[in-house]
Amino acid sequence: MSTRDEQLRKDAQEAVEKHKELVQKDPYRLNYHIMPPVGLLNDPNGFIQWKGIYHMFYQWMPFHTGHGAKFWGHYTSNDLVHWQEERTALTPSEWYEKNGCYSGSAIAHNDQLYLFYTGNVKDEKGERESYQVMATSKDGIHFEKQGVVVQLPEGYTAHFRDPKVWQQNGKWYMVVGTQNHQQQGRVAILQSDNLTDWKHLGDVTGAHTKQLDAFGYMWECPDLFHLDGKEVLVVSPQGLQKEGDKYENVYQSGYFVGDVDYSTGEMQHGAFHELDQGFEFYAPQTTEDEHGRRILVGWMGVPDQNEEAHPTVQYKWIHTLTLPRVLTLKEEKLYQNPVEELSSLRGKETIHQQVRIQTQEISLQDVEGDSMELYVQLHSVEADVVEIQFRNHARLIYRPSTGKLTLERKSFVDYQTESRSCTLQNLSTLRIFMDTSSLEIFVNNGEEVFTSRMYPYEENNSVIFGTNGTVLMDVHKWDMGKM
Ligand code: FRU
Repeated sequence: MSTRDEQLRKDAQEAVEKHKELVQKDPYRLNYHIMPPVGLLNDPNGFIQWKGIYHMFYQWMPFHTGHGAKFWGHYTSNDLVHWQEERTALTPSEWYEKNGCYSGSAIAHNDQLYLFYTGNVKDEKGERESYQVMATSKDGIHFEKQGVVVQLPEGYTAHFRDPKVWQQNGKWYMVVGTQNHQQQGRVAILQSDNLTDWKHLGDVTGAHTKQLDAFGYMWECPDLFHLDGKEVLVVSPQGLQKEGDKYENVYQSGYFVGDVDYSTGEMQHGAFHELDQGFEFYAPQTTEDEHGRRILVGWMGVPDQNEEAHPTVQYKWIHTLTLPRVLTLKEEKLYQNPVEELSSLRGKETIHQQVRIQTQEISLQDVEGDSMELYVQLHSVEADVVEIQFRNHARLIYRPSTGKLTLERKSFVDYQTESRSCTLQNLSTLRIFMDTSSLEIFVNNGEEVFTSRMYPYEENNSVIFGTNGTVLMDVHKWDMGKM
């Protein structure tokens, strides 16, 4: 351990101690989501289950609520629900990462945990350099940096980052998010037999798919995996233009489904689909756990989104991760459902069966609060509109004639109403996780998800169902405890 590393750890610990009380006072501190102890959290990193224990690392700026020279914070869990804060995994202490230990991934090999991440460097002129770095650990808590394992290959700008490593057919592969010299977003793929010598194979997509020539100027945080007979490439492109209800956030996250030739790394794939329909979702990462589930966690935030306007900033912290979701693939579409372990947080249960609402707005007894799981099953909707209002701050609105499902909320920047929408064939079920300042809405058993922060008045705990016609539904509600 270098003295620089020791100093940075000490500084980070001091920042945690200094603001602990203030951070904990924030009414918007969440009950059951991963947050930074102080400062800014962004991407989930190094998500893995190793020797039974789930490890979740995250991009962390301990010193303020903006971006900068990132650390890797670290949580562990036995059940993906209760997370324990661990020693800071990585500090930006070496020359090859002095401006940040940027995003990356974890693998288990030879009884050790390996981390691969991007060393971000900005020289005196502000020019960027990027290095892919490896660190190893015998106990999963203390990491030893092994130095740079991948230098920038030819053909890309220094925007070359976020290595995701995995093993397949006895070989190691790495995908890296990048930009080529024509300012086009790409995913580079590399291969290795020993984890330290890496050969650049080429681009996963884009090179041969004309339609993708201008699909954003940079692709961040790639992830490539096998699921239900297909290959899925998850990526976060920057620079897509809004198209109707699509691509409305500053940056996007989504996926391609297809087949990959692993000798060249080339992927033949279908269209890009967004992973989430909400306001805050970016840079997701997946892992396959010991039960064989492909689990995804995202950052419940987006870069360059007026981040300083989030009201938590005055309490010296910002952002959270999403709940872990299990992925399945049906006809080239990803379905996402919250891990079943979350039911261990359920407290008091309230059931209202065969509720009929007719041209009215109603609340249901005991269906209120700021931390709950809500399950709504719609039996029939004879109406132009059916909606659920959350804490007088956000509304989910369904219009059967067009199939449009819309999430509205009051903007945390100017308090104006803003909305995000998608189109469904029909609406049958909603599984909604509300935390003190977040909503995750799983539609039709995972067909679509809306993930968003919300900052309602503390006193307002109402949930109101409304329609201009007739709706018949069952409503289940569970109070959700603290993790
Ligand atoms: C995505 C990202 C990554 C980068 C990290 C830096 O949000 O920009 O590309 O590694 O954040 O914190």
